[in-house]
Amino acid sequence: MDRSENKYEYKGSLSTADTDIPVTEPERQYFFMGKVKEIIEEKVQELGRPLTFHVTTFGCQMNARDSEKLRGILLKCGYTESDSEDADLVLYNTCTVRENADNKVFGRLGVLHGYKKKNPYMMIGLCGCMAQEDVVIEKLKKSYPFVDIVFGTHNVYMLAEILLERLTSEKKVIDVRQKADRIVENLPLERKYSFKSGINIMFGCNNFCSYCIVPYVRGRERSREPEAIISEIKRLVADGVKEVMLLGQNVNSYGKNLENPVSFAELLRMVNDIDGLDRIRFMTSHPKDLSDDLIDAMAECDKVCNHLHLPLQSGSDRLLKDMNRHYTKEQYLTLVDKIRERIPDIALTTDIIVGYPGETDEDFEETMDVVNRVQYDSAFTFIYSKRSGTPAAKRDDQIPEDVIKARFDRLLSTVRSIGEKKAEALTGQTLPVLVEEINKQDQSLVTGRLTNNSVVHLKGDSSLIGQIIDVHLDECKGFYYLGSKV
Ligand code: 5AD
Ligand code: SF4
Repeated sequence: MDRSENKYEYKGSLSTADTDIPVTEPERQYFFMGKVKEIIEEKVQELGRPLTFHVTTFGCQMNARDSEKLRGILLKCGYTESDSEDADLVLYNTCTVRENADNKVFGRLGVLHGYKKKNPYMMIGLCGCMAQEDVVIEKLKKSYPFVDIVFGTHNVYMLAEILLERLTSEKKVIDVRQKADRIVENLPLERKYSFKSGINIMFGCNNFCSYCIVPYVRGRERSREPEAIISEIKRLVADGVKEVMLLGQNVNSYGKNLENPVSFAELLRMVNDIDGLDRIRFMTSHPKDLSDDLIDAMAECDKVCNHLHLPLQSGSDRLLKDMNRHYTKEQYLTLVDKIRERIPDIALTTDIIVGYPGETDEDFEETMDVVNRVQYDSAFTFIYSKRSGTPAAKRDDQIPEDVIKARFDRLLSTVRSIGEKKAEALTGQTLPVLVEEINKQDQSLVTGRLTNNSVVHLKGDSSLIGQIIDVHLDECKGFYYLGSKV
């Protein structure tokens, strides 16, 4: 793009040699937000309309939380949020855990290009996990030159700085870091829901499961200091938040590498002591690190929700070993028994991969056996996706598609029928529901969740949103309930 095409030429004074650019964070980023705001406000004056942005999130809860940070920064920069991707700045916060996630993003970038051709002020950004992959960067450079800014998972906090560079130069900016140098606290943040929030307790993953790309794109494990987590939650509660979701790729190894180590069980107890908070969820637990102390903490902490997500991946010892999961089928089943003994009515959910390289019929039957024995309340089932750079991708015993499809369908139907049976068992009970939103299909209904994470629809209006109310579960419709307020 040549200079004449840059519609945001900056007329103020800014040079990288500026001595007034703070060197410490987050002050430095607030400085850049102020500078971007000057440019945006000037443009708004000139055009006589707001400059809009839209952040589209792909993937997991971590990305959803990062998007709240991106939105917070953009609002501080003077942009106005839009519901539509036909906006002046669109950011794709991407996921790369499975290949179809990548393909979806590339397809949609083409659509954005169409908007950009009609709007000379439009900028397009791509960030998140895909940006950490060299192959993606090469492809963007070669085939998607209309993308203006690219940054990775380690420098989300630098959005304003990157944006300023783009706005004041004719070049697009690609700023992807291989390592996370720090955790920057106290940046602006715009929550999607007023009454619930995700909280990062740690970043990255050290486990290197053989199929998984996450450790390569999210880096090594880094835990936040407990004090920072607790004070963030206290601020959220003061702002109306009733439910928090503590986020990490492997929350059970939280705090091990802090200067003063703190366990996840200890953190859970500290969070449980926060006045005014009603519900605590967390995601994700690795079975190998789930301690007895954590089971005790879950049983004792009244605010911890009645739900545990415990990814199985496979029921075959041979595959579990190859996957580098560090537990056997029997160890997993023993853990489930221990949890259920202590918390009998806990809802258990899981992740399962079908079609991992070398998976035999016998291996798959082992997975089915665990599913039948554990009786999960629900399960996310994934078809194995080859991620380049991971050990499993190098194997030459990849499974044919038709075999995978048959196994996948069988697993899904078993998971569904067990889930329905489990859900049915709660019908007729009266349980607390946190009301989250107006039902998308039927405006006379609101939708909320039980502590076990099941969805409930009931008659009601927007005044109920954010409230925890007792609801009679009138009818089970498979994966959700129809209920009525009591
Ligand atoms: N193929 C399929 N599923 C995967 N997951 C992670 N990597 C892959 C892959 N390459 C699944 C795992 C994990 C969940 C978040 O995504 O089940 O728990
Ligand atoms: Fe991936 Fe395993 Fe880390 Fe989960 S624990 S993010 S599956 S490497």
